[in-house]
Amino acid sequence: MAEKTVPAAIEFARNNQQRFVEELKDLIRIPSVSTLPEHAADVRRAAEFVAEELRRIGMENVRLIETSEVENSLGHPLVYADWLHAEGAPTVLCYGHYDVQPAEPLDEWITPPFEPTQRDGNLYARGAVDDKGQMWMHVKALESLFATHGGKLPLNIRVLIEGEEEVGGEGIAWFVQNHGDQLRSDLALISDTEMFAPDLPTLCVGLRGMIYTELEVRGARIDLHSGMYGGAAPNPFVALAQIIAKLKDENGRILIPGFYDKVEAPTTDELKAWKALPFDEEHYRQTEVGSPELTGEPGYSVLERTWARPTLDVHGMPGGFIGAGGKTVIPAKGLAKISMRLVPGQVPAETYEQYKSYVESIAPRGVEVTVRLIHSAEPIVVSTDNHYVKAATEAMHEVFGTDTVFVRGGGSIPIVGDFVRELKVPTLMMGFGLPDDNLHAPNEKFHLANFHRGIESIIRFFSAVGA
Ligand code: BES
Ligand code: MN
Ligand code: MN
Repeated sequence: MAEKTVPAAIEFARNNQQRFVEELKDLIRIPSVSTLPEHAADVRRAAEFVAEELRRIGMENVRLIETSEVENSLGHPLVYADWLHAEGAPTVLCYGHYDVQPAEPLDEWITPPFEPTQRDGNLYARGAVDDKGQMWMHVKALESLFATHGGKLPLNIRVLIEGEEEVGGEGIAWFVQNHGDQLRSDLALISDTEMFAPDLPTLCVGLRGMIYTELEVRGARIDLHSGMYGGAAPNPFVALAQIIAKLKDENGRILIPGFYDKVEAPTTDELKAWKALPFDEEHYRQTEVGSPELTGEPGYSVLERTWARPTLDVHGMPGGFIGAGGKTVIPAKGLAKISMRLVPGQVPAETYEQYKSYVESIAPRGVEVTVRLIHSAEPIVVSTDNHYVKAATEAMHEVFGTDTVFVRGGGSIPIVGDFVRELKVPTLMMGFGLPDDNLHAPNEKFHLANFHRGIESIIRFFSAVGA
């Protein structure tokens, strides 16, 4: 059966490549920015768009699952669908997210973020690769199988797509934790990570966790004239700068007491495998980072620093005067958005408590500091010791003609931890993004060859799992 199915489904996918891309563009035109309240209706529209397509291709029980009653959720719906008639075959849970990051700064986009544009074999738009384009690969692989398999699939499928991955919303965690019986599966498939290099099929086997926080510092009662009061009144931004300077030293070491206590090092096998990856640090510095020098902890390679070591970053400091020219004011309050990426061993809630007490202990005189947790995610390493990994590497070998590399990712996908712990399913992160796809940045793109190779890989993988 597999022999017959695979070529037909792949031929179908090849004959429909441009239509698949055009449909993806329609989805991308919906600006489903989950963090911005003014886009809430767009987020819902994107959910409905995806649900409608799942219905059209032949999926069953398609529905939006509401999350508005869930604590720590923005109320963006989940999209669920299933097709469970392949008796005796395994069930795959396909996960993706239809929400996107904000597109700002808008003036750095060559073409507008929500007007998807094809250029040099790439599709440029917010969400092109993270994650609308990658989630669409799953949908189009399923469509290709339905269309060439008499309206059936060779395996059982459940689809769960969320709308608040990019804000760490807990709607999906609530559903997984309380309705796991509705998600019973043999494995989870996620396409929301990157390939290590062009043409190099990649499975991601670990993600960093995170805690995202805000520090609010209040000084004076109201904004003050900096000439009249400067010297006597405290300045919240100076206070924030003093706090931040004590969080991390010039060698990239985080100074929060106890922060590293539970950090688990990667295995020697993993470290050996990472050393063998084709990685050119100078090329990475120039083309991906573009800074005069790389920073971070001495004694750790760049891959270790970004995959297996925790870190701390400041994302923005809203408040005060940020217009053109000068305004001589002492702002009454200042804010800093600060996150930490965590690695296996670290527990987000514990790290947050360590951070909070430390910040409170170093708060400068004259200001009031409030520490808030915005969202968090568990670090995760998944097992590669199952036959689905082998099926995936074989599927990608047929498409790419080369062996798969195993990497970790420095980013976070909060729900993966719950898939592993709550649903207890092997989880496969088979992503087709590229390191220079500009995730979360201006001019995000998806290399369309990878969109199509991704669809073919998933078709082959599903066929092998169902055979
Ligand atoms: N797809 C990314 C995560 C990712 C990117 C993993 C590259 C591995 C390699 C995801 O959409 C993402 O950006 N997640 C956020 C989660 C956070 C807001 C809770 C992140 O990592 O910042
Ligand atoms: Mn993503
Ligand atoms: Mn993202």
